Amino acid sequence: MGLRLYRIAVVQGDGIGPEVVPEALRALATLQELDSSLEFDFLDVPLGARKYLETGVDLSPDSLEVCRNADAILKGPIGLPDVRYDDGTEVGIHIELMLRFQLDLYANVRPIILLEGVEPGLRNRKQINYLIVRENTEGLYAAHMSGIRRGDLAVDPLVVTERGVKRIVKLAFDLSHKSSGSPIDGRRRVMCIDKSNVLRSYAFFRQKFDEVAKDYPDIEKNYMYVDAMTQFMLFSPERLNVVVTENFIGDILSDLGSATVGGLGLTGSANLGDKVALFEAVHGSAPDIAGKGLANPVAILFATASMLDWLKEQQAADLLRKAIRNALSEGKARTPDLGGSANTRQVGESISKAIRGLSSA
Ligand code: IPM
Ligand code: MG
Repeated sequence: MGLRLYRIAVVQGDGIGPEVVPEALRALATLQELDSSLEFDFLDVPLGARKYLETGVDLSPDSLEVCRNADAILKGPIGLPDVRYDDGTEVGIHIELMLRFQLDLYANVRPIILLEGVEPGLRNRKQINYLIVRENTEGLYAAHMSGIRRGDLAVDPLVVTERGVKRIVKLAFDLSHKSSGSPIDGRRRVMCIDKSNVLRSYAFFRQKFDEVAKDYPDIEKNYMYVDAMTQFMLFSPERLNVVVTENFIGDILSDLGSATVGGLGLTGSANLGDKVALFEAVHGSAPDIAGKGLANPVAILFATASMLDWLKEQQAADLLRKAIRNALSEGKARTPDLGGSANTRQVGESISKAIRGLSSA
């Protein structure tokens, strides 16, 4: 087989970004070392709140083009709480949302999986394995930078389009089809989460969900209002298979879901478009723990595995996931958020060691 060469745009980001991203690169370098026909070309894209302070530029057209033309984007968290525009919104959030909107990364897929050896945020929950499929280019966040602020009034509209809902719901059903169903009964089901009893935009979302669902007669469909869903995620997560929802709801539910399986240090996120995709952790830049080696690199390593799926490097993706699971369940590769005492680098090193071990076995 010829050389499989991938150009990966790499954003180190802010806060703990420059600590966790190198661990993802370490894993990729290890995979490359073990497979002589696999090669990654890393393109450094300096982006983030820190960079903005230095240069006054948030997202330059050049940086956007490097991302657009890469085979994939691997991104650390960006944003710092004190780096804001005059209207009070954060610069890092703006950069993040612009990447998603301008590159049309319409699907934000976040696997919520309880791993062996990890103490879940819930008692007595042994089986949690589902996907949150979050619409990523419209919803309430489409109002970003375009809401109205006049005197003592502020308005942010919530945008739902037929095309937007249909493409995300279709992906949710396709992912359910490929999955092995919910852990409790092996049934494939897609659950639409909204607040259609209150807002027209959400009622429209649900209506379009139903239209797409008709094309998937073998997959169960159901619905839940987001308020009830917060309880369901704590009490009955083993019934979930794929959850599909609007941008803002998905943002909140994915942090809650992460907490149920051990916290934000563990969940990765794939921002998918039709042409390019961006991979990152669900967590933010955590400036309070930055520079101390406390950050858990597992979230970005899972995101890196999703990146390998996207590149159709299935063997490498599976190997990386298995290495993360093995290293975690052995107990050595645990940062303090998981009750361990390893630092960021040690976790990354144990995972690379596990990759080597598995590939020579
Ligand atoms: C996330 C983050 C982002 C979001 C920010 C950084 C724009 O919280 O990826 O969940 O709000 O979507
Ligand atoms: Mg979030």
